[in-house]
This record gives sequence, structure tokens and C-alpha cells, in this order.
Amino acid sequence: MSGVPTLSGEVEISVRSIAAARSGEEGPLLLVLHDVQREFGYVDPQWLPLVADELNLSRAEVHGVVSFYHDFRDKPPGTVTVRVCRAEACQSVGAHALAEHAQSRLGIGFGETTDNGSATLEQVFCFGNCAFGPTVEVGGMLYGRVDNERFDALVEGATS
Ligand code: FES
Repeated sequence: MSGVPTLSGEVEISVRSIAAARSGEEGPLLLVLHDVQREFGYVDPQWLPLVADELNLSRAEVHGVVSFYHDFRDKPPGTVTVRVCRAEACQSVGAHALAEHAQSRLGIGFGETTDNGSATLEQVFCFGNCAFGPTVEVGGMLYGRVDNERFDALVEGATS
């Protein structure tokens, strides 16, 4: 992930080539958007016309899909991404309270990034770690049986 924030020539070439690589596939738009987010960490709104152009779609079609699916970020994520499971098995062992704590501890809601850019908070609906909930992922590492105290320690360790 290179996280380039502006539409430089290099970024334009990269976004166009990501889209062009899937242009022959059936229903490529969602796949392309995921590929772009995987490459840059987000999907900048100014890149959407490039995707539309490469896939022979209207800008409105591309914009509509990006707006409909909440998976796509329109800004670069923080240095560390913190993801809290909110699915049923984790909910039954305290994930709701942990989710509240996570938002309070970081001072942001789900889908947001702290002002200093240190962390992005996201919710996930099952990591497949259901027997060991509540489950949290911090900086790509999965942790089970996370309580508020452990959450604070994990976030502190990853962001300081
Ligand atoms: S329900 Fe949380 S990991 Fe499956």
C-alpha cells in the first residue's frame, strides 16, 4: 500500500492499469474498486472517473456503487487499523460493550480515523474466531478474549 493522496500521473497510471486489468471480466467494477483500495488503502473520489473510463461505465454508475457499499474508504486510513468484531458470537460475550469502549478510547466512531492519523476504527462481522471472543484485530494481528483493559494495551502498543 503506497497511500499516495493526490492524483499524480503515477497514480493515474496505476489506477487505470488496475481497472484495465479487469476490464474484460464480467461485472468488474466491485473487483476493481477492491483492488484499488488494496493498493492505496482507500478509493479517492477523484479516481472514480478513471475507473469509469477504463470500464466504459458512466461516472454516476461508479459513484453509485462506491456510495452504496460501505467497504470503501474515501480517505487514507490511519497508521494502524483497529477492527472490532460485532457479530453474534462475540456480542454474546461482551463485544457490544467493547465496541462502545473502543469508540470512547479512540475518540472516533466506526469508519473514522483519529485526527492525528494514528488509528482507524472499523467494525467487522466475524473473523472466524468466534470461540475466543470478543475478537479484535490491531495492525493486522488477531486477538481473542479482549476486554477493555487489554484493548487499551493493544492500541497503546500499536500506536505509540
Ligand atoms: S463472531 Fe466474532 S469472530 Fe466470529
